[in-house]
Amino acid sequence: MAKTKLAILISGRGSNMQALIEACSIPDFPAEIALVLSNRPDAGGLDRAKAAGLPTAVVDHTGYETREAFEAVMSDLIEASGADIVCLAGFMRLLTADFVNDWRDRLINIHPSLLPSFPGLHTHERALEAGVKLHGCTVHFVRAEMDNGPIIGQAAVPVLSGDTPELLAQRVLVAEHQLYPACVKLIASGKARVSRDIVRTESKVDGLLINPA
Ligand code: GRF
Repeated sequence: MAKTKLAILISGRGSNMQALIEACSIPDFPAEIALVLSNRPDAGGLDRAKAAGLPTAVVDHTGYETREAFEAVMSDLIEASGADIVCLAGFMRLLTADFVNDWRDRLINIHPSLLPSFPGLHTHERALEAGVKLHGCTVHFVRAEMDNGPIIGQAAVPVLSGDTPELLAQRVLVAEHQLYPACVKLIASGKARVSRDIVRTESKVDGLLINPA
């Protein structure tokens, strides 16, 4: 069966992208990477992608007057790559409702909290301030409202006494690197579908919950 083609959008170091690169290098993984696109020319992830021999592109948002003009160039490159699914992996630009709707149910994101808790930035600081005992990460289909949309999978980690935001971030990141490839596999193999804005999985898969502990 043909593999699902991914376009991965990054803005920074690209460790989640790296986890997807590694997963895609496994012969029977159902997806392959068609394009890595960064909005920042200095994103460290671009070097990692090039080292893996992947096609890369830079669309520097600072060179465009409007969000729409920036996104139009990105869309053309993504379309030209033949991507079936767009994976946001630390992509730090808000996307317009038009872009999100064009890619509805084909655009996914990883967020470093157990949504719907802690959408937005500084999730680890906020989790510590709230005193939650479980924290984690979520992979979800993207909707126009930020960090919102049907949840594909989640991974939980404990919050330990003495945690700092940095320590907690490291623990969550390990979980992110497991969760993102697992969710891509679920979608690419057709075992997860959106129905009435909820992700339904085949009964034998029964959702995706990873607890690395
Ligand atoms: C991750 O924590 C991800 O959840 C968030 O941005 C960070 C990106 O890290 N959306 P990396 O670039 O994948 O290393």
